[in-house]
Amino acid sequence: MSDPTHTWSEAESALYRDLSRYAVPQRERQIAIVVDRVARCAASGDVLEICCGEGLLTAALLDRLPDARVHAYDGSDSMLAATRARAGDPDRLVTRRIDIAAADWRAFETPLRAVVSSLAVHHLDGAGKRALFADLHAALAPGGVFALADVIRPETAAGNAIAAELWDEETRRRSLEIDGDLGGFEAFRRADWNHFRHAVLDPMDQPSTVAEHLDWLRDAGFVGVDLHWMTAGQMILSAVRP
Ligand SMILES: C[S@@+](CC[C@H](N)C(=O)[O-])C[C@H]1O[C@@H](n2cnc3c(N)ncnc32)[C@H](O)[C@@H]1O
Repeated sequence: MSDPTHTWSEAESALYRDLSRYAVPQRERQIAIVVDRVARCAASGDVLEICCGEGLLTAALLDRLPDARVHAYDGSDSMLAATRARAGDPDRLVTRRIDIAAADWRAFETPLRAVVSSLAVHHLDGAGKRALFADLHAALAPGGVFALADVIRPETAAGNAIAAELWDEETRRRSLEIDGDLGGFEAFRRADWNHFRHAVLDPMDQPSTVAEHLDWLRDAGFVGVDLHWMTAGQMILSAVRP
C-alpha cells in the first residue's frame, strides 16, 4: 500500500468475509468470467492470484484447471488460512504472505501462464499500478493472460452517483436473495462501505479510472487489452503478454 498510515487489518479481513457475500456485485458471475478468461489460454502451468482473500477464486481456478498450479498470495494470515482450507488439493496450491506494494514477490522461476486479481489492486496508487503491470508483463510467458477484477474511480460526478446507486441496489438484491431479508444490506450500510458516497476516500483505497487501467496496461506492453464486464463501479478486464 502506498499510504502507511492505514493498512489492511485482520479485523478488516473478518468483516470482509462477513459482508462480501452481499456486497460484491454479481460475485459468482465475476469469478466465472475471470476463470473462463484464464481457461481460454492457460489450461496448465503456473497461475498467480494476487490478494486471494478467502480463496473463492482460487478454488474455482483449481477446479477448472486440473493441470495448473495456483500461487495464491495475500497480506492477511487469516485469509491465507481460509484459502488453504477451501482450496482442496494442497499439491497444486502455493500460498504466500505478501505486501502487494513490495517488489520482493514478483520474481518467478517459471514464466507464469496467467495472473489474476480481484478487488485488491486498487490498494496501490497510480504509480504502484503501473509498476505492478510492468512486473507482471515481465513475469508472464508469451501468450499469458492477466485478468483483473477491481473497483474503479468514475471519471465524473454523474458516474460516481450512478456507481453508488447501482452498488446499493445490487447489495440490497443479494441480501434478499441470499437470506430472504435486508440484514446483509443493513450491515453494508452500517459499515459505510459504499465509498462512492464518501467525499474523501480512505487512503488505503486508491482506485483509478477504466481509461487509466487500459492505458497503463498498453504502456506496459500488453496487447488485447479488453473490458469484459462492469457494474456498480467495478470492472473486469484482461490483457495478454505478446
Ligand atoms: C477486498 S479484499 C478482496 C479479496 C478477494 N480477492 C476477493 O475478491 O474476495 C482485499 C484483499 O487484499 C488483501 N490485502 C489488502 N492490503 C494488502 C496488502 N498491502 N498486501 C497484500 N494483501 C493485501 C486483504 O487481505 C484482502 O484479502
